[in-house]
Parts: sequence; structure tokens; C-alpha cells
Amino acid sequence: MVVTFVPRETAAGETRVSAVPESVKGLQKLGLQVQVERGAGVAAGFPDADYEAAGAVLVDAAARATADVVLGVQVPTPDQVHAQKAGSLAICTLTPGAALASVKAMRDGKVTAMGLEFMPRITRAQKMDILSSQATCGGYQAVLLAAVHLPKLFPLMMTAAGTITPARVLVLGAGVAGLQAISTARKLGAIVEANDIRPAVKEQVESLGAKFVDTGTPPDAETKGGYAKEASAEFLAKQREILAARITEADVLITTALVPGKKAPVLVTAAMRKGMKPGSVIVDMAAGQGGNVEGSVSGQRAVVDGVTILGDTNLPAQCAADASRMYARNVVAFLGEFVKAGAVNLDMNNEILTAVTIVHDGVVRHEPTAQALAAQAS
Ligand code: NAI
Repeated sequence: MVVTFVPRETAAGETRVSAVPESVKGLQKLGLQVQVERGAGVAAGFPDADYEAAGAVLVDAAARATADVVLGVQVPTPDQVHAQKAGSLAICTLTPGAALASVKAMRDGKVTAMGLEFMPRITRAQKMDILSSQATCGGYQAVLLAAVHLPKLFPLMMTAAGTITPARVLVLGAGVAGLQAISTARKLGAIVEANDIRPAVKEQVESLGAKFVDTGTPPDAETKGGYAKEASAEFLAKQREILAARITEADVLITTALVPGKKAPVLVTAAMRKGMKPGSVIVDMAAGQGGNVEGSVSGQRAVVDGVTILGDTNLPAQCAADASRMYARNVVAFLGEFVKAGAVNLDMNNEILTAVTIVHDGVVRHEPTAQALAAQAS
């Protein structure tokens, strides 16, 4: 019987869990035996008793050592990897460049590592796409966070105490997180504007009832997979010029602009930020990738020149129950790709498995990480 272990996450601030009681049933349908570490779901609102009722066996952390498949939200620490048996799978988010020691431990211990953020963005893999599910939660949470920190109400209110004008929200980068932020801010009654550099986005922004701020499209703006390509320094300078005027009008600025594999583009300089109204709020969702806003610090919150800058890096952890539900469904769908009737079949010709497998059978298959490890060793 293939044993799947669901750990209690140990990374600082991580409240999510890789399986929820509902998904335990899904894992069992694949023929897996499910072991859940005691307390694994508590921070996300899922008590041990609910896992037990769903048919999971409650275990302690040591059960990692005997599991065939170890699920996770964050990458396991090197010590946790050392505890896994050779030939077992670690399925989690991996950011291999930032977790070299863990990847090395996976290589040396012959643990197969699957990084779910490498899921190809093809139709077949949509239900396994943790980047989309977690960005959806993050975009929503960014707006709520901004609303709590903004000393102003979001909606238009006509009351006996007079009229309150609606908040103005500007969203830079309207991919999955940005579109969700637009939708959430609109539902709260804000006036929303948004900008992106991919041509398809204008229509999506407008369909959500927001105004598109057009800063043009760089030539060859988009990869085949639908991602933005890095814009030139000249393009970004022009883009900032147009955005500067919109930023001074905004009460809330939410930035989500990313270019895969690159440092996030700087869309708001310190001088532009100084033009914002006192009391306004910035949520820089790109803070962990270098930031879209000069002066935002990954994982930190600060008030600079009267503007609140929030650099929270794990917004999905702030709505852990539904973020976990969605993550857990992604995981079950992914396992369904290669686990049938309790048997694991790692067919490395399967494009989904090829894309997500970072380490297999003692070999680091993710080229940039293999190079980084080689450089470290020399
Ligand atoms: P992302 O997180 O990599 O980037 C966020 C946004 O930042 C993107 O919309 C990008 O165009 C924008 N951006 C980059 N540089 C910018 C700049 N200088 N100024 C303004 N905006 C900038 O992207 P995300 O949200 O992960 O998805 C991007 C696209 O991927 C989607 O819109 C879609 O086309 C595709 N996708 C496909 C899926 C599928 O078919 N399974 C699922 C999800 C996304």
C-alpha cells in the first residue's frame, strides 16, 4: 500500500496544509493510505478529528520516514528530507534556487522532488495549477489587507452624516492575482483602475468593471505560455511616466507585476510614491521577487512618508482554510495524473511530470539549479 504523509508545516508563518479532510477522500480514491501529522490542519481550521473522520490515520512527525509520498506546502528542510526514505516522493512548492540545501539533500538521498509551481499552464493541468489557486487567494487577501489599513471606507456611502466618496484602487499587473484583486475591490465598492503590458489584459480588466490604464505594449510582450516577457528599461521608464499621474490619485495601490525567472520590474519609484496621498496604502505582492515599489521590503510592513507599505509575502496563508482547500484539490488532481489504483507510475514522458520533477533518482533535472549546485561544490 502506498503511504502518503501530510506534515504539519514548520516554516515560519505558514498556516496552510497540503491536504484537508475533503481531499483525504480524494487521495483514498486513488488507492493511497493517508497519514496526517497531528495538528497539521489546526492553523487552517481543520481539526485532527475531521481528518480521522475522513479516514486518515493520525501520526507523529516521525512517520515521514516510512512514507512513500510526502506532501507539503513549503519545501521540506534538509533535515526533513534526510528523514525520507530513498525512492520516496516529495510533492510541494520548491523554489529550488532558494532551497539549494534541500535540493542537494533530495539528490543525495534519492528523493524524487516535484515542485508544483512548475506545473505547465496547459488546459489539462489547470486543475493542478497551484500558482493560479494561490494567486487567486493572494489577490483577494491583498485587497482586504489594504482595506483594513486604509483609514478610508471603500464604498460610496450616502448617509445622514453626509456622503463618503469611494476609495480609488490602482492595480499594476493584472494576471491571476491582479484580476482577483480588481474583482474584490469592485465588490467592496471601490473605483478601480489597472494596468498590464500583455495585450489580452485590457478586455479582461474592463469586463470586471475597471478602467484600463494603457501604457502600451512592448514589442513581443508575451511568451507562448501567456507570461509577460521582460520589458526594456526605456519601456519601463515611459510606463512609469504614465503611471505617475494615476498613482497620485490612488488611495490603494496593489502591485503584482512579475516576469518569470527575473527580478520584478520597478513600476513605482520612491519619488512616485512620495506623490501619493498621506494615509494611502500599498500592497506590493511582488515584494518577495524584489518588489514593484521602491522601498517595499519582503515580509515587512512600514509607514514611509505617511504611506503604508505592506510587503507581506504569504498572503494565501492569511486565508488558510480556502487556500488549503484549493491547494489540496490541486494536489489530488496532480496525483491522479500518475497514481492509479494505488500504484505509482512515474512516466517521465508525461509532459506534466517532466515539467514538475526537479530531482529524480539522484539527478537534479532543473538545469539552473543543477548549475547552482555545481558552482557551490567547486
Ligand atoms: P505572473 O504572476 O507571472 O505576472 C503577473 C502579471 O504581471 C502578468 O499579467 C504580467 O503580464 C504582468 N506584468 C509583467 N511585467 C509588467 C509590467 N512591466 N507592467 C505591468 N504588468 C506587468 O502571471 P500570472 O498571473 O501567473 O499569469 C499570467 C498569464 O498566464 C495569465 O494571464 C494567462 O495568460 C496565463 N495562465 C494560463 C493558465 C492556463 O491556461 N492553465 C492558468 C493561469 C495563467
